[in-house]
This record gives sequence, C-alpha cells and structure tokens, in this order.
Amino acid sequence: MSDPNLGYDVVILGGGSGGYACALRATQLGLRVALIEKDKVGGTCLHRGCIPTKALLHAAEVADSARESEQFGVIAELAGIDMNGVNSYKDGVVDKLYKGLQGLIKAAKVDYIEGTGKLVGKNTVEVDGRQITGKNVVLATGSYSKSIPGLDVDGERVITSEHALSLDKVPASAVVLGGGVIGVEFASAWHSFGTDVTIIEALPRLVAAEDADASKQVERTFRKRGIKFKTGKPFESVKHTDTGVSVTIQGGEVIEAELLLVAVGRGPVTQGIGYEEQGVGMDRGFVLTDERLRTDIPGVYAVGDIVPGMQLAHRGFAQGIFVAEDIAGLDPEPIDENGIPRVTYCEPEVASVGLTEEKAKEKYGADKVKTYNYNLGGNGKSQILKTQGFVKLVGVVDGPVVGVHMVGSRVGELIGEAQLIYNWEAFPSDVAQLIHMHPTQNEALGEAHLALAGKPLHAHA
Ligand code: NAI
Repeated sequence: MSDPNLGYDVVILGGGSGGYACALRATQLGLRVALIEKDKVGGTCLHRGCIPTKALLHAAEVADSARESEQFGVIAELAGIDMNGVNSYKDGVVDKLYKGLQGLIKAAKVDYIEGTGKLVGKNTVEVDGRQITGKNVVLATGSYSKSIPGLDVDGERVITSEHALSLDKVPASAVVLGGGVIGVEFASAWHSFGTDVTIIEALPRLVAAEDADASKQVERTFRKRGIKFKTGKPFESVKHTDTGVSVTIQGGEVIEAELLLVAVGRGPVTQGIGYEEQGVGMDRGFVLTDERLRTDIPGVYAVGDIVPGMQLAHRGFAQGIFVAEDIAGLDPEPIDENGIPRVTYCEPEVASVGLTEEKAKEKYGADKVKTYNYNLGGNGKSQILKTQGFVKLVGVVDGPVVGVHMVGSRVGELIGEAQLIYNWEAFPSDVAQLIHMHPTQNEALGEAHLALAGKPLHAHA
C-alpha cells in the first residue's frame, strides 16, 4: 500500500550520471521523481571529468597533427598553445551539453531541487530545512579526487584533475602522481601541449588495471613520445621550491617540476550526509549494495561512484536506469560489471571489455584459455594513421570470447562492437562470418576473430 505522506515515488540525492539517468528513466515509467543537486546537474562527468578532459585530449591530438604534419606531406607549423582558446573550446562543449541536459530534465517533469541534501530518515532527505520524502531513495552522491596522507593539495602547485582542467597556461614541466586512467590521460595531453612530463606509479606498470600487454604497448609508445615514467616507485614527499615543486620518490630520486598533479584515485562522497547515521552499510566510505543495487535499508538504493567497482559515467547511467526499472517492477537483469566497456583516452588509446588474460586463466584454468594478438601493423587504416598497437582477444577453448583488449589511436571507438561480442557471448566463429568494412580500424577486430577462428586473412595463424 502506498503511503500518502511519502510524496514522491523516488527521491534521488545527487544529479550526476547515475542520479539523472535514474530520474529520466523513472519519469518515463510514470514515477514521480525529485532530483536533489547542490551544484550542477551532470556532475563530475560533464563538468569536471569525462567531457572536459576529452576536449582537452582532442585539442592535444590537433596539436600533434600540426606538429607531425610533415610526415603526411603537409607543411604546417605548431606555433603554440593558447590555453585560453583551448579552455573556451572545452567550456563551449560542456555548456552546450549542460543546456541540453537541463532541457531534458525539465521536459521529463522531474522535480529538480537545488540544495544540499542529507539523509535524515529511511524515506527522507532534508534540503535546507525542507523534508523531501519518497517511497524509494536513491543515493547518487558521486566521488572526489583523493590525495594520500601527508600530501596537501593547494590548488596551485599541487593540484588535482579539477584544477588541471582550468589552468590558464601550459605548465613547462609536471610530475603526475599515479599512472592510472587520469594520470596517463593528463600526461598524454600535457606532453602534446609541450610540457615535460614524468609519471610516478607505485605499481610495476602503467594502467595496471588493464591487460599486461596493453600496459606494455602504452609504455612503449609513451617512451617513443618522450613521456617519462617511473613504475614501481611510490611517492615519498613533496617540497615547494622557488619555481614549483621538488618530488621525492622511493629510493631517494628527486624530480623538480612546475607542478604536481595528484591522480591516485577518487574517493566516494558519503561523509556528513547522514548515510552512516541512518544505518546504511558502508565499507571504507563506499556504500554496500547487493547486485540489485539495494542497500541494507529497505527502499534505499545506491548508484554510481559511491558503489564499489569501476568509477565510470556509463556504469552510473546503467545503474540509474536499472534502479528506476527495479522500482517500477520491471525486474531488470543485474548488470555484469565485466561487460562494462572501458576506454582510456591517452595517445595511444586503450579500450577493453571483459576479462584480462590473467583473470580469464584464473577463472577457466590456463589450458582452457586461448588468446590472439592481432597487430595493427596488418591493418590498412591504422597504417594510414601511422598508429601502432593491437587487438587482443581472450577466448575460452571451444567457447566464447571473454575479453577484448585494444591499444592504438582511436581504438576507443571500436569498443562498441567489442562489448556486443562479450555481452552476447559470441564465439570467434560467430564474429568471423560478419563482414567488416575495409579499410577501417574496425576491420582489425574482424581480422582478430578470423584468426582466432582458425582462418586468418592478413595475419599469421
Ligand atoms: P586509478 O585508480 O585509475 O589510478 C591511480 C593510480 O595511482 C594507481 O595506479 C595507483 O597505483 C597509483 N598510486 C596510488 N598511490 C600512489 C603512490 N603513493 N605513489 C605512486 N602511485 C600511487 O585512479 P585515477 O586515475 O585517479 O582515476 C579515478 C577514477 O576515475 C578511476 O576509477 C577511473 O576509472 C575514473 N576515470 C575514468 C576515465 C575514463 O573512463 N576514461 C577518465 C578518468 C577517470
């Protein structure tokens, strides 16, 4: 029986990717929705993350094209980078998408409530003294740039990705702390803009969450590009100097630079907003849920970066949609986290879905896993672009493809087909009979499957 005092069907705390996707889907399903946001709808992804960073990386690609134009017989000269120009291009993209999103929220008749919300009861969020109640509450408060103990971010010389997105000049030199996704993307963009970059990574390889072959290829290309990196070297300390920072890493080596970018992960925004007081189950600040994204308080769900797992906007979208459908009684299928595609937009791009070779061997046994690594050297379009890399398939013997890993310029755009292959549990022979356009980079995905199915074309078996 519905309680008339519970004004809304769904009250969503946080208007980022997870929260607003939930709001839009819930209204489509006829539910009454309140969406509470203290800043701007769109959250980290639109305003401080995915979108502005990718605009920066596109400007970096344009700079590289100008610098390397002679290789293609085009005479151009890179005279410099006007950061104000880059920023206004980037902000223009964000503004346009922000306006579009505001329009969508308005058209969907979501009750958009501006203000800082706090969970004050299992059905209630308080916003500036006003109680908003709903039959269901969805926690979607997102994440923030973390630092490490003893390392203070001052926003000028020691900065996070948010500060890095609004610099008004190209730094002459930078140390990037963390060789994960944010670290390699900024290192790549800054290097293209002319910054002397050094990455410090505690783990033995860059992009350590990816397949080991992907890390090797990124490292090889970064070395060739002149991006310096020190792996297996945890950060020790930083001191301010007259001109910037002096960073000491394990072993005592000191690196001087104009600034230090801290990219050591993102923490969940869950403190001081009533979650713990109301008894929401948590672990190290993350909100624990079951596979249906339900917390241990009935009617309270959580989506996005506060839920342990990959912190990706499209995971947030999918979780938001899932929760709206679950509330509406559509009984959606739980999300397979391995089926969520991942792209790192450095140059070369890294794109993957499914299991790494190592994880597949753990799951199925080493003798039940076969792999094929198709080198982009055999792919016409990649040669035209002068990029190097590969498409690596991880398959189960006599079974489906359980992992696709790609490295090379623009391979992020190939992940669409790769995620269908993984999520539809395709066998190599299923994909081998599909025809891929020639010449495209997409063809490399087809060629890899032809080879894994035992009938290679432009490749050795
Ligand atoms: P991350 O977890 O990907 O990488 C952080 C890196 O810092 C790790 O490799 C870690 O070993 C290293 N590290 C930690 N402490 C260290 C120390 N003391 N010394 C040296 N190295 C240390 O986190 P990142 O790059 O900050 O990104 C945060 C989140 O944002 C990730 O979940 C990522 O997936 C997401 N994101 C996704 C993007 C995309 O999909 N293209 C773009 C940017 C961020």
